[in-house]
Amino acid sequence: MSAPHDLEHEAIAHGQRAPACTMVIFGAAGDLTKRLLIPALYNLARTGLLPEHFALIGMDRLEMSDAAFRAHLDAALRAFAADKHYAQALDETHWNELLQRITYLQGDFGEAQAYERLRDKLAAGELAQRSADNVLFYLAVAARFFGGIVDHLGAAGLVTEAPGRWRRVVVEKPFGHDVQSARALNAQLRRHLAEPQIYRMDHFLGKETVQNIMLMRFANSIFEPLWNRDHIDHVQITVAETVGVENRAGFYEGTGALRDMVPNHVFQLLALTAMEPPASFAPDAVRSEKTKVLTAVHRVDAACDSVRGQYVVGERDGHLLRGYREEVGVSAISMAETYVAMQLGVDNWRWSGVPFYLRTGKAMSKRSSEIVIQFKRPPLSLFRDTATKALTPNALVLKLQPDEGAALMFGAKIPGPSLSIGQVHMDFHYKDYFQNAPSTGYETLIYDCMIGDATLFQRSDSVIAGWEIVQPILDYWAQDAQAPLATYATGSEGPAQADALLQASGRVWKRLA
Ligand code: BG6
Repeated sequence: MSAPHDLEHEAIAHGQRAPACTMVIFGAAGDLTKRLLIPALYNLARTGLLPEHFALIGMDRLEMSDAAFRAHLDAALRAFAADKHYAQALDETHWNELLQRITYLQGDFGEAQAYERLRDKLAAGELAQRSADNVLFYLAVAARFFGGIVDHLGAAGLVTEAPGRWRRVVVEKPFGHDVQSARALNAQLRRHLAEPQIYRMDHFLGKETVQNIMLMRFANSIFEPLWNRDHIDHVQITVAETVGVENRAGFYEGTGALRDMVPNHVFQLLALTAMEPPASFAPDAVRSEKTKVLTAVHRVDAACDSVRGQYVVGERDGHLLRGYREEVGVSAISMAETYVAMQLGVDNWRWSGVPFYLRTGKAMSKRSSEIVIQFKRPPLSLFRDTATKALTPNALVLKLQPDEGAALMFGAKIPGPSLSIGQVHMDFHYKDYFQNAPSTGYETLIYDCMIGDATLFQRSDSVIAGWEIVQPILDYWAQDAQAPLATYATGSEGPAQADALLQASGRVWKRLA
C-alpha cells in the first residue's frame, strides 16, 4: 500500500477547543486506559478543551457491552477521584457527558474482521455524518502489537487522509527493543503512515517541569550565556525511583532499566538540556535541535562509561525490602539491570569536553528526578586559606519531580570575623507560584495530538539516534561474562561502581534529595 500524502491541516491554536474527532483506543480494557487516558480526557472535558463533537471507541479482546465498559471506567475514575492527580471532586456533569460519548467494540487486534467492524462503526457514527471524519488511533497495547495493528489499519483503509480529514496514530513506548527493531518498526509504520501522522509517545514530555527546561533556558537571558563548555564543569541527570519492579516482572525481565528509561525519558532530558535554541517553537524546529544533540553524542565505551546494577535486599524507613531476584515473576538468576549509570560526551562547540553523567534506578532511597548543571570552580587564589571543599562550585538544579522547582547553589560569607564561605540555596517551588491543576500528565499530550502539534512527540530520527547511543552498551552487556552486574541495596543511592564513574575525575553524584 502506498504511503498517504503529507497533508496540511488547519492549525488550531493552543487553548482553543480541539477540532471534532473520534478517538479509538486499542487496549481499552487495560490499565493505561483507566488509569491515565480516561482521567486525562475527563480533565480535558472539564477544562473545555475536548472537542465539542467527540466520540471515543474503546476496542479490546474482551466481550463487553457499552454499558459494562462505561461502568468499568466509571468505577475506576471514582476510585481515583480523591487522588490529587485527578480531581478533588468529580464534576458529574462533565463526566456524564463524556461517558455518553464512549462506546465499546470487541475485537482481536490480529483479525482483519475486527477492523472492518471498526470501519463500519466509524462510518455509522454521528461524527461521520457531520463529516468530521478525523480519527485518533491510540495504541495503548503491548509493543508487540504496534506494527500489526497499523498493518491492519492500513489494509482497512482507516489511516488514509483526505483534505479536511486527518488520521493519526499514537504509539506508546517502548518503540523497539534495539536499533534494528526500532528501524524495522519505523519502516512498518511508514508503509501506511506519513511521518506527521505518527505520534510517538514519551510521557516525560507531558510533565510541566520537563517542558519548562526549554522555557527556563530560552525565556531568560541570564542562563544561556553561561550554558556552555566555558562555564559548565559537568551535567548530572538523575531519574531515581523508590518503586521496585511491582507487578511488571513479565515486561521488565526482558527489558531492564536501560531500555525502559534511557533511550526515551532520560535522553529527552539530555536533549532538552543540551539542545541549541530552535529557530522557533514549531514542532520540527524543536525536534530537529533535539535530534542534533543525540546524533552529536560520541560513541560510548561501554566497558568504561557504563555501570549496570540490580537491587538486593535492603531497607528503607526501617522496613526490610526484598531484592529484585526475590520479586514475584523474576528469575532467581536474572541478569536484568534495575539501575544504570553512564557517562556521555556531546561533540559539538557548546559541549565538547563536558561530561554528562546519567543515572536511573528502581528501589532507591528517594524518588527524585533532577538535572544538575554544575559550574566550574572559581579561581582559588583569593581563598587560599579556605579549605577547598568549602568552596563548593555553583550549581543550578532543575527539580523535575516530585519536588517541582529549581535551586541555585552559591557561596556566601558566613557571618563572623573570619572570611569563610558557606553554601546557600536559592529555591523556587512551583507550588508557591502556580496553582497546580489536577493533571495526569497526559492531558497536554492527547490534546496536542488532536490539534496536530507534534512538538512533544518523538520523531523517528530521534528515536533511532537514542537507540544508536545505547546499542554498544546493550551489545557489551549481552556478554554477561565480560560485563559485571553490580548490586545495590534497596533503599540506597545505587551501586558503588556508579560512584567510581565520577570519582575517576574527582567528581561526585549529588545526593538524592
Ligand atoms: C515508564 C517506565 O515509562 O516510566 C516505568 O516503564 C517507570 O518503569 C515510569 O516507572 C516512570 O514514570 P513516572 O512518570 O512515574 O516518573
